[in-house]
Amino acid sequence: MNTIGIGLLGAGTVGGTLIKRLTTDHAAIAAKTGLDLQVRRVAVRDPGKSRNLDIPEGMFTTDAQSVIDDPEVDLLVEVMGGQEPAGPLVLRALEAGKPVVTANKELIAARGYDLIAAAEKSGVALLFEAAVGGGIPIIRPLSETLAGERLTRVMGIVNGTTNFILSQMTEEGTAYEDALAEAQELGFAEPDPTADVGGADAAAKAAILASLGFGTWVGLDRVPHTGITEITATDIRYADDLGYTIKLLAIAEDTDNGVSARVHPVLLPHAHPLSAIRGATNAIFIEGPAIDTLLFAGPGAGGDPTATAVLGDVIDAAREILAGAQVAPRIRFAPSSLADFGSVPTKWYVRLEVADLPGVLAQIASAFGEANVSIKSVWQEETGEEATLLIVTHLAPESEQQNALAAVNELDCVHAVAAAIRVESEEA
Ligand code: NAP
Ligand code: HSE
Repeated sequence: MNTIGIGLLGAGTVGGTLIKRLTTDHAAIAAKTGLDLQVRRVAVRDPGKSRNLDIPEGMFTTDAQSVIDDPEVDLLVEVMGGQEPAGPLVLRALEAGKPVVTANKELIAARGYDLIAAAEKSGVALLFEAAVGGGIPIIRPLSETLAGERLTRVMGIVNGTTNFILSQMTEEGTAYEDALAEAQELGFAEPDPTADVGGADAAAKAAILASLGFGTWVGLDRVPHTGITEITATDIRYADDLGYTIKLLAIAEDTDNGVSARVHPVLLPHAHPLSAIRGATNAIFIEGPAIDTLLFAGPGAGGDPTATAVLGDVIDAAREILAGAQVAPRIRFAPSSLADFGSVPTKWYVRLEVADLPGVLAQIASAFGEANVSIKSVWQEETGEEATLLIVTHLAPESEQQNALAAVNELDCVHAVAAAIRVESEEA
């Protein structure tokens, strides 16, 4: 039997579940893989915490460095989260020649380029299948299976909390705050859910998807992001009437001006496969000339699905340790131009509260026209002295759409730009 010693940084939702799986499924994993995977040492903040894990108490330590230094630890699993102290610890492990498996999207998005270079220098693996999409296999397909495809777009629902909130608001009429509280109770949301609802969690995942999908490193600072905090029941209803579902999407594209990645709420046509993704489920929709479209969907968060992805990486890294060869990175990043967000073609749904007077529509149409933005459709509802206008534009560069919105906002007849949400996956 080939024994591999595992050190963990973290034994929370993901780490604790991984330890349970490594103990309860030990024989089944050994039978299937020929590997005897043994937990050797585990760093946590509070070793006295009750964890219901079947490993000796003496394995727990608050000294994370001692996990890396332990000669019986052949590979490190980082599931503590955050950039500090996880980043320096992962780097030290790689420099010490120990492969690392991590579920930490924030760390990979922020420092992945340097960590992958450190792994290459030491000839060991740095694997992060669980960092995007939880239990959905997406990192390996993008960096290995699809390495020969010239992908054009990788677009997905990559945050379970926000998809759960939007689904509850859409299907049950639940208020935003109540849906968020429910997501927290169910354990999808981060302890501080700001990163979920504000779009930062999805932006880290978008940066990783863009980097792997297009083979050029896309730093986190190149991913503009907006969350779902401004989405109202009113727009969910109007969007539905117009034939759209509102989703928070991570969108990575190879545009005429270079690679672009962004995260924001969008109106998606009801018929788009991502519109049907409900609750905390994640899904990634991939487009390329040869494969046409692929959809990867499944549980994007939670201890069990995420631990399955981590365990797959552990088995992969263990096999490489036993093979004894220098490990080359799964993917290399070539320099390539990144598109300025202002140049990316977008189209918009705009809800305006306007004076219900002659000439108002003409003024608004003219403001869009002067900014070079063509209007695709207009729908109007009278609301007493005012009218609500719903405008959907044609595709135009993001900067021109922003200019149009600013010009419309300046008009005296426009009492409020009540909502402005991009529309995705429609022609022109
Ligand atoms: P968690 O439940 O908060 O667990 C974190 C663990 O790390 C705890 O055991 C904690 O110790 C330990 N820890 C934190 N800071 C430490 C420090 N400075 N020194 C030593 N130990 C420390 O987090 P999680 O949900 O398992 O997430 C872990 C990672 O997986 C994160 O990067 C997260 O983004 C990623 N991820 C999570 C999910 C999910 O569904 N949860 C899905 C995909 C990816 P104590 O137990 O003593 O507090
Ligand atoms: N808070 C994250 C989510 C966990 O809701 O998707 C998985 O990364």
